[in-house]
Amino acid sequence: MSANPLAPEWLVLPADANGLAPEVWPRSARRDEDGVLAVGGASAIALAEEFGTPLMVLDEAEVRRRADEAFAAFTGAAQRHGTTARVYYAGKAFLCTEVVRWVADAGLAVDVCTRGELEIALAAGIDPGRIGFHGNNKSVSELERAVAVGVGSIVLDSRIELERLAAITERLGVVQPVFVRVNSGVHAETHSFLATAHEDQKFGLTLEDAGPAVARIRELDGLEFRGLHCHIGSQIFGVSGFRESASRVLELHAALLADGPVPVLNLGGGFGIAYTSADVPTPIAELAEGIVAAVAEECAVRGIPMPQLAFEPGRSIVGTGGVTIYEVGTIKDVVVDAAADGETPRPAVRRYVSVDGGMSDNARPALYGAQYSARIASRDSHEPAELVRVVGKHCESGDIVVDNEYLPADITPGDLLAVPVTGAYCAVLSSNYNAVPRPPVVAVQDGHARVIVRGERLEDLLARDPGIDLGAQRERHTTERSATADRGEA
Ligand code: LLP
Repeated sequence: MSANPLAPEWLVLPADANGLAPEVWPRSARRDEDGVLAVGGASAIALAEEFGTPLMVLDEAEVRRRADEAFAAFTGAAQRHGTTARVYYAGKAFLCTEVVRWVADAGLAVDVCTRGELEIALAAGIDPGRIGFHGNNKSVSELERAVAVGVGSIVLDSRIELERLAAITERLGVVQPVFVRVNSGVHAETHSFLATAHEDQKFGLTLEDAGPAVARIRELDGLEFRGLHCHIGSQIFGVSGFRESASRVLELHAALLADGPVPVLNLGGGFGIAYTSADVPTPIAELAEGIVAAVAEECAVRGIPMPQLAFEPGRSIVGTGGVTIYEVGTIKDVVVDAAADGETPRPAVRRYVSVDGGMSDNARPALYGAQYSARIASRDSHEPAELVRVVGKHCESGDIVVDNEYLPADITPGDLLAVPVTGAYCAVLSSNYNAVPRPPVVAVQDGHARVIVRGERLEDLLARDPGIDLGAQRERHTTERSATADRGEA
């Protein structure tokens, strides 16, 4: 076996294309004596038989372990620096009642950003006081509902929203704790961060505008100012962006202390995870210690007390717990010129492996150019590895599932393929593109599997079109089936 010149530099030709790299698979992932992949003790073949494919599998123990780790990391670091930390699970990464219960068991609060997410969190039975409500354009009815149920905090994102919420609290005669989201001018992504005077994005108030907004909140009986909130991006690998942002936000935080209490500082989420072996994120405990230590230093420099802290991890809790199982449908070798511009042509083969899902169940490659890895799940193979591109079934050339991966050369239609690290921002970003029903999400634990988000049936989709008479369709299908049976056809 040899490396394919079409492969990106970071993709290493594996010694064993059946291997399950520990950084991207749930801890429970293993191959049984027949080479079949099992997650949470449940075999990929059995799962596919019971629930069909594509299928999103969520390893309960992995999610619980990561929630425990995040709780310990942030509360431990806070304690070492003389304060406390509240850890919110950012529900936008993946939300259903079951997951809310898992993270609540780990001591986490939950952050939601729409009425829908709020209702899921409430339905799970979490104390509303442990819910934080975000979003740059919450509607009046969303705010009313949040206040009425008594959410623990609302993160204000604009002056317009501040006045809207003030009117609601006045009408209801209640006091609502609030944060003010600020835009620190720091934007961080993976390895690097960018710091500008003003970041060009929609969230929060500038540091200059936030001061007057806090002064206004302090005038109002219905709003209780809890502190500043800042979220600098997602899939961040290092501490430096958080440090720069905290330093800027603490400048304002210190100034605000002159006119009243500022009990909490919320630094948001964004803690990165590995999607492929090329990613080397900082472990959560190290990240937490680095960020909290940076906040402590910045407070010491300004001679202000360490505030209580809050964090909002999403992806790092739920990402690595998710594995999507697909079935391979077709395989096609395409000859591509691997030569750089001006070089002599160098033909190379790119093998396209098509699976039965795609950008409708994982939009991240199409949306962000996100990279993933894959393994054959239904068996192992000792054939040499070949470079493949795993693609979906949608009518779009950007419908890529795994851009580049080495898989055994004998991969064939009917094989099950598993893609790890699909727990965050996949199911929640799924769509019905090309009238494809969304797959179920199944939790696995100790060999048991149960549906935690029901899959859609084609009927669910057809029922949205008022031009389709489902009753008549069902009847026609029944008639067609009995006619087929009469002709003795299968
Ligand atoms: N807090 C706030 C205010 C946020 O906006 C977000 C994510 C989080 C916390 C959680 O960030 P995390 O720890 O999950 O990185 N769909 C994109 C990511 C969008 C993130 C949106 N905000 C993706 O799939 O990469």
